[in-house]
Amino acid sequence: MNTTNTDINMHEEIQGADLSVPAPLQEPLRQYYFLKRARAWTAEKEEELGRPLTCHVTTFGCQMNARDSEKLLGILKEAGYEETDSEEADFVIYNTCTVRENANLRVYGRLGVLHGYKKKNPHMKIALCGCMMQEPDVVEKLKKSYSFVDLIFGTHNIFKFAELLAAMQESDRTIIDIWKDTDQIVEDLPVERKYPFKSGVNIMFGCNNFCSYCIVPYVRGRERSREPEEILKEIRHLVDDGVKEVMLLGQNVNSYGKNLDTPMSFAGLLREAVKIDGLERIRFMTSHPKDLSDDLIRVMAESEKICRHLHLPLQSGSSRILKIMNRRYTKEQYLALAERIRAAVPDIALTTDIIVGFPGETEEDFQETLDVVRRVRYDSAFTFIYSKRTGTPAAAMEDQVPEDVVKDRFDRLLKEVQEISKEMAERFTGSCQSVLVEEKNSQMEGYVTGRLSNNHVVHFCAPESLIGQIVNVRLDECRGFYYMGSLLDGPDTPV
Ligand code: 5AD
Ligand code: SF4
Repeated sequence: MNTTNTDINMHEEIQGADLSVPAPLQEPLRQYYFLKRARAWTAEKEEELGRPLTCHVTTFGCQMNARDSEKLLGILKEAGYEETDSEEADFVIYNTCTVRENANLRVYGRLGVLHGYKKKNPHMKIALCGCMMQEPDVVEKLKKSYSFVDLIFGTHNIFKFAELLAAMQESDRTIIDIWKDTDQIVEDLPVERKYPFKSGVNIMFGCNNFCSYCIVPYVRGRERSREPEEILKEIRHLVDDGVKEVMLLGQNVNSYGKNLDTPMSFAGLLREAVKIDGLERIRFMTSHPKDLSDDLIRVMAESEKICRHLHLPLQSGSSRILKIMNRRYTKEQYLALAERIRAAVPDIALTTDIIVGFPGETEEDFQETLDVVRRVRYDSAFTFIYSKRTGTPAAAMEDQVPEDVVKDRFDRLLKEVQEISKEMAERFTGSCQSVLVEEKNSQMEGYVTGRLSNNHVVHFCAPESLIGQIVNVRLDECRGFYYMGSLLDGPDTPV
């Protein structure tokens, strides 16, 4: 990977931190100071043990968490740890999700396993961060029953990870630092990307929507947008470093920029991003239907760089349920929006999220959901069983739907969604598409796996040296959720 000027400056700043004076109060200089301190501790420990210290970051949940984990790993590497694939490491951190109850249960289960590793390795440290830590009951439970955890912090102070890491290294007690909210956005911290050729880019943090089932606004705080210049600077820096595709990340990207001193729309931000030379693809996640503007549809139609994929969470097809969910659109408005999008960008893939079994959902309501699914014909849909999240308005609602009824609806929905996805995928069979080659295929020798602009996956025979390149591929056969294809010549072959 290239080393860019920004990286060099950051390394110099970290090297240059003066540990003989108290830590600066200004960010990110304060974190650079603690990084140097953490690195000194790591070096001493390595000397003592006669081996390098290893680390592992485990991510639960969404793309935002995946991006946060790259930042955690960036700090850990800068602090002198070596990454390992195994959780039997000297430092393991779980970046948690709490959007549904089973995400929490998985963390508790796996912590038991980590405890076993820690008993074998007395130098091991265990840390927890992310959305689940923003729930007071969770932290209480951890304090009481999981006292072997060394460090706990939440979503708002993740930028302080270097400081917390240094504190943890120097202490034998559990360090717990949870903030209720923040308006701070700290830029220019180290990041270790998973893929050299693609990257997430946060454009905003938090969520103001308060859908009645959702815990995210409580754990991720109020909506804050990054300044467009900071976002564009980061993208240019990534492109200089070999990135071809970025995914702009926010809980509700369509309300980007509304609260900036100089407001800017998401469509406006995209117009600036597409101008960046060398950047070949732009994706984004997630769009709230109520805020999706015609201007955004126009930008998508105008620019080839913007990927032919839109994730547009429906949640329910019943206007009655949508109202109780506080989604602020009706079934008819959603359908009209989907139609406008398909008309403007015919080759777009539309995907969605649907919740089954929201309190009070009747068979009629569920039929409305099935009706939307049949009319929109999603390219794929994530279906979820409603999960009661303490503190949300829906958790206090009566008439929660019985488990067996929910399960039956879920199965019927899944069947419908899968049949439609398969049919939709067929429409691209035989076409030639530009594909970003992402990895070596683990099942088939000599094959690689790539992603189409519309987010579909294709496997085809090609040398590994093409990883990170955009090439043209003919989609020979659709196998439900993926294609088998053949490599055509250069990226500019006419389609
Ligand atoms: N129960 C089930 N699914 C949920 N989601 C959010 N909150 C809940 C909940 N309480 C789903 C929504 C959202 C996706 C990220 O998770 O469909 O779009
Ligand atoms: Fe999970 Fe939502 Fe937090 Fe993402 S934002 S990690 S999906 S709770």
